[in-house]
Amino acid sequence: MIIGDDVLSILQTLKDRRSIHTFTRKEVAPEILEQIFTYASYAPTHYLTESWKVDVFQREGKTRFIDAIMDSYARIGFLPNTHEAKTIQMIASMKQFLHEIPHHIVIHFEPPTDKVRYEEEFASVSAFIQNAQLAGWELGVGMLWTITPYMHDPYFLEEIGLSKTTKIVGVMQVGYPEKVPPFRERTPIQEKMQFINE
Ligand SMILES: Cc1cc2nc3c(=O)[nH]c(=O)nc-3n(C[C@H](O)[C@H](O)[C@H](O)COP(=O)(O)O)c2cc1C
Repeated sequence: MIIGDDVLSILQTLKDRRSIHTFTRKEVAPEILEQIFTYASYAPTHYLTESWKVDVFQREGKTRFIDAIMDSYARIGFLPNTHEAKTIQMIASMKQFLHEIPHHIVIHFEPPTDKVRYEEEFASVSAFIQNAQLAGWELGVGMLWTITPYMHDPYFLEEIGLSKTTKIVGVMQVGYPEKVPPFRERTPIQEKMQFINE
């Protein structure tokens, strides 16, 4: 519904938001993160299950999270299994890169066994994440939605305090943007859309 300038602002935010890859060291206050995820929770959710869960790893909490990522990368063969100086240096710089990100926010749900119910929950949690990205953008907070192989590693899930069957929909890197990537135009929707009238 179009009501005055508010809608214009929402439409502009949809176009303006960018994925952020570099962050300043400044933390986002807990109240602001709560505000962002409160807006996110107005996402559509069938039967109002609101099945999203949000774990914010920050400060010392990042150590446990990043160590779990490195353990997982070693297990799944993403890191060379050697103690060469080159490998040690590579691990140290990956850890440092991840530590410099103010917040790592894991968004997950407990998956139902029924396929349709699973898709409903996955879709709803995805909508929750995009709402969070848009609300964050309005408040000057940047995010990068990441999906990585460790999300499918049951030992990783346990190491960060989840059950082996939990489904992670995104690991969000969050903070104040250091650099905002330029605007990127999308394909005209006419190339992807058709009207079926009869
Ligand atoms: C489900 C999902 C997973 C993504 N995973 C990654 C990722 O692992 N690493 C990354 O750099 N970007 C990731 N992205 C961000 C996309 O690369 C980004 O949305 C795309 O380049 C368009 O840029 P924009 O978000 O600034 O419009 C992901 C986005 C989505 C929706």
